[in-house]
Amino acid sequence: MKFMITGGAGFIGSAVVRNLMARQEHEICVVDKLTYAANLQALAGFMDDPRFTFERADIVDSVAVKTILDRHSPDIIVHLAAESHVDRSIDSPGGFIQTNIVGTYTLLQAVLEHFRLLPQSRKTSFRFHHVSTDEVFGSLGSEGYFTEQTPYDPSSPYSASKAASDHLVRAWARTYKLPVSISNCSNNYGPYQFPEKLIPLIIINAIEGKPLPVYGNGANIRDWLHVDDHAEALLSVATRGRPGETYNIGSNSERQNLDIVTAICTILDRLRPRSSGVYAQLITHVSDRPGHDMRYAIDAKKLRNELGWLPSRSFEEGLVQTVEWYLANADWWNDIRSNVYGGERLGAQLGSSPDHQPVFSRSTSSSR
Ligand SMILES: NC(=O)c1ccc[n+]([C@@H]2O[C@H](COP(=O)([O-])OP(=O)(O)OC[C@H]3O[C@@H](n4cnc5c(N)ncnc54)[C@H](O)[C@@H]3O)[C@@H](O)[C@H]2O)c1
Repeated sequence: MKFMITGGAGFIGSAVVRNLMARQEHEICVVDKLTYAANLQALAGFMDDPRFTFERADIVDSVAVKTILDRHSPDIIVHLAAESHVDRSIDSPGGFIQTNIVGTYTLLQAVLEHFRLLPQSRKTSFRFHHVSTDEVFGSLGSEGYFTEQTPYDPSSPYSASKAASDHLVRAWARTYKLPVSISNCSNNYGPYQFPEKLIPLIIINAIEGKPLPVYGNGANIRDWLHVDDHAEALLSVATRGRPGETYNIGSNSERQNLDIVTAICTILDRLRPRSSGVYAQLITHVSDRPGHDMRYAIDAKKLRNELGWLPSRSFEEGLVQTVEWYLANADWWNDIRSNVYGGERLGAQLGSSPDHQPVFSRSTSSSR
């Protein structure tokens, strides 16, 4: 099979690529613009593999996307390219509208043209799988779960842009009969996550002895999934899920943000004790995120019952592995902290910058 992974140099996309490369049987083409969030180190080792190709391109660029589709003629496209950080979407929503909505539209048009020209034998197994988030469903109270039938009710510019992209994908399936699937997943954590997101930010700040910012009272609840379990679930849906269907992905690991931060502190107290005191002394409550959803929780029964997917690790195991990974990979995040993002607060001041301000790109040169 020939896979095309958009956003394959990002946190989840690179986990999907590592999973596919380990299977030894597929050809993989990554399409990525290499924004600040991308990291080619996560794909290190594959660049010279004949089964792997990297194409630096912006999914908003229809000519580039068509050229790449013609060149690689994929059977399965897993679409992860996106602006993904809620706090950045509060400061500068324009880039989210461009990539997540216009980019998905551009991709869908080019993919439809590609699909229509495939021979019937390849049309049968073709799939465009769109990777989305549980944030499109808005906020839950203390009870209940998001199911595939939960109405959309996004709160942030990020989740609204992802909701819009989900609607576009469904429309292209219903109107043009493009074989698509969609998955909505809960919060991910694991290796190579850009240190603007809660778990890597807290681990790195703690290692550096800096304050550990907790938004508001820290009672907000997220349902956590290890990125490698998400990658496995995505490939199950993209290769075996029913066309036209949506699958929720989650592992029943609801935790309050404050409990996550405290758990990281406890792990670090054991793995790398401070010279004096404990890491929890660094916890600092800061002003809440505007429009902060209270609780997300996923009902993933459909995925489990239809495709037999189950997470391979508990949250407790995965969190320890993740802290160990960040301790062992300081070179990776030191480079980001020094050159790309130093850990400053984002998304706290409403209207702090013009909404058409582009999200800056890394000046890394492309390879292959
Ligand atoms: N991180 C999570 O917890 C989570 C949870 C559920 C769903 N998702 C979804 O999964 C996908 C991947 O998330 P992630 O956390 O890996 O994000 P990420 O920010 O780590 O990576 C995104 C990747 O997309 C690339 N990209 C951005 N704009 C692009 C453009 N215009 N053209 C081509 N490439 C572009 C970036 O360079 C980067 O490599 C996103 O669609 C996100 O909405 C993420």
